[in-house]
Amino acid sequence: MRVKPIALVTAANKGIGLQIARDLATHGLTVLVGSRKLEHAETAAKSVGADARALQLDVTNQASIAAAAKRIHNEFGRLDVLVNNAGISDAGKQGISHAASLDEQRAVFETNVFGVVAVTQAMLRLLGEAPAARIASVAPSSPQRALFGPVYSPSKTALDATTLAFAIEFDDTACPGFTSTNFNKFEGTRTAERAA
Ligand SMILES: NC(=O)c1ccc[n+]([C@@H]2O[C@H](COP(=O)([O-])OP(=O)(O)OC[C@H]3O[C@@H](n4cnc5c(N)ncnc54)[C@H](OP(=O)(O)O)[C@@H]3O)[C@@H](O)[C@H]2O)c1
Repeated sequence: MRVKPIALVTAANKGIGLQIARDLATHGLTVLVGSRKLEHAETAAKSVGADARALQLDVTNQASIAAAAKRIHNEFGRLDVLVNNAGISDAGKQGISHAASLDEQRAVFETNVFGVVAVTQAMLRLLGEAPAARIASVAPSSPQRALFGPVYSPSKTALDATTLAFAIEFDDTACPGFTSTNFNKFEGTRTAERAA
């Protein structure tokens, strides 16, 4: 019998996270539907599918993260897919540039950046138990001037750098590196064989 891969989606109680959870379930994964409110996770899990499980997870709360990791360890012993989706655009007080307070920035970074680091680090051992683990972090596709602000945008830029650092550390990035091809007049330092 094929063992179903296990996926954890943070903030899967609504929005993009809920849709990601549904898509993963459709592709045959057992989905852990994370939400900082257990009752919201339970409601969402019912709509995701029979094999979805509700999981209380506040990405800014270390005790909540540790409890989630412990439960996954006890129930599954591994984690195949981690989707860091939880994110906030502001902490309720966002103003324009100079008016954005440091408290506001810190609150948004706490969720969008440090929350991702904390959850990823807590799940590393479980991800290491999976044969081909994957980590995905949800970030804007490209900066848009009209939406670029002093709080959310820097947090997602930091998240991009964090994601890259993890990818380099795990040697699991899709970037081929500086590869010797026509693209750079063959000045690259890696061979195409190595890059592929
Ligand atoms: N919507 C867009 O246009 C867009 C574009 C690019 C990227 N994104 C990214 O996509 C992700 C999801 O956004 P969305 O559009 O689906 O927003 P959303 O509908 O507002 O959902 C945000 C989710 O994050 C959760 N959350 C907030 N703080 C949390 C915490 N400390 N711990 C756990 N969960 C927490 C919320 O939980 P509660 O329900 O409890 O508040 C909610 O489930 C975010 O990372 C966002 O930056 C969105």
